[in-house]
Amino acid sequence: MKTQVCIIGGGPSGLMLSQLLDLKGIDTIVLERQSREYVLGRIRAGVLEHGFADLMREAQCGARMDMEGEIHEGFFIAHDGEMTRVDLHKHSGGNSVMVYGQTELTRDLYEARDKMNSKVIHNVEDVKLHNVKSDESPYVSYRAGDEIIRIDCDYIIGADGFHGVSRKTIPGDVLREYEKVYPFGWLGVLSRTKPVSPELIYAKHERGFALCSLRSQVLSRYYIQVPLTDTVEDWSDEDFWAELKRRLPDEVAERLETGPSIEKSIAPLRSFVAEPMRYGNLFLAGDAAHIVPPTGARGLNSAASDIYYLYHAMVDHYLNNDDQGLDVYSQKALARVWKAQRFSWWMTNMLHRYPDSIDYDQRLQQIEMEYLFSSDAAMASLAENYTGLPF
Ligand code: APR
Ligand code: PHB
Repeated sequence: MKTQVCIIGGGPSGLMLSQLLDLKGIDTIVLERQSREYVLGRIRAGVLEHGFADLMREAQCGARMDMEGEIHEGFFIAHDGEMTRVDLHKHSGGNSVMVYGQTELTRDLYEARDKMNSKVIHNVEDVKLHNVKSDESPYVSYRAGDEIIRIDCDYIIGADGFHGVSRKTIPGDVLREYEKVYPFGWLGVLSRTKPVSPELIYAKHERGFALCSLRSQVLSRYYIQVPLTDTVEDWSDEDFWAELKRRLPDEVAERLETGPSIEKSIAPLRSFVAEPMRYGNLFLAGDAAHIVPPTGARGLNSAASDIYYLYHAMVDHYLNNDDQGLDVYSQKALARVWKAQRFSWWMTNMLHRYPDSIDYDQRLQQIEMEYLFSSDAAMASLAENYTGLPF
């Protein structure tokens, strides 16, 4: 097989780039290790910054998001039994976020790819990248049953997530990895209940952080901070709801509607960045190159700018004979990636209970929040980061 851009990974990053390039007449093939059902069965976060929502519209995939998604102009921070609202709209100069499940968004991207008869190949095994930095043209190989298939291409996009193969192709003396693993995880529960609040609640509590989020007016998503040693089996639904209530202000806990969990999982919290994001004819995008803890809702939104820069760089290369975008991709993408890292780290530090924290740390956490609530400049910084820094 032959294509212009071979994309490894059929998650939101890979699908979005493939859709955008296809609309400009640039040929792509997407290789995905899992089945489509498996990819669409993963429960992921649900807050999109406005830049990502715009990209969905540009990809002609925004119709259902605009119909079913909710525009949120603020969220609450619960602390010391009180709720303080962060007015994103006011403090960001009119921006907002879109609450729309990433699982739904991925479904929309697959449907759009189907409509354009795109080549998204599932269940590929042993994906290998060849001639990534060589005078010979790059190609990708994979195994389907007993057969080894070869795809010749101009460029390879590594959009295969944190555990993918692409990043590992970059030699150790070139690749630099920065990682921070937090000493706790998030236990998440999805339930068919009415959300406790129309806007998200981020709760700081001495027993640990909690988050009240939603997917729709009949589907709620809640999280609590748990020790890394906990397993899902340690938490019955009953225990989960009881602990969540303890961490919320009384008036919120009283109106919390509980019900059976339809999904329950624990995710460890991690910050990670790989540099550079380009090696020869390989370009990394999304979780393949960087991970953030979920506190600032930046996961997919960090991937959005990678896709935006790559999309424009590829269009300039193929349609305008201009390689500048490709040449500066790594530098430009990393500049924004690191800002999202800083913001996610800051939100995580302000709101979580660290097992080894001393009184001094806890006082500083309190002061950080007091300063935030007393300063328009600090609120503006939060709001511009949460709604998304410019691409
Ligand atoms: N070959 C082919 N596909 C692979 C391989 C491989 N060797 N390894 C992984 N994949 C696939 C995975 O099965 C997955 O579907 O690559 C895809 C990567 O998708 P994601 O992990 O969703 O990453 P990305 O598309 O960059 O999306 C970023 O996902 O994890 C969240 O917080 C993150 O919201 C962010 C978003
Ligand atoms: C979610 O709805 O899953 C969600 C929302 C906001 C976050 C993290 C996760 O910061």
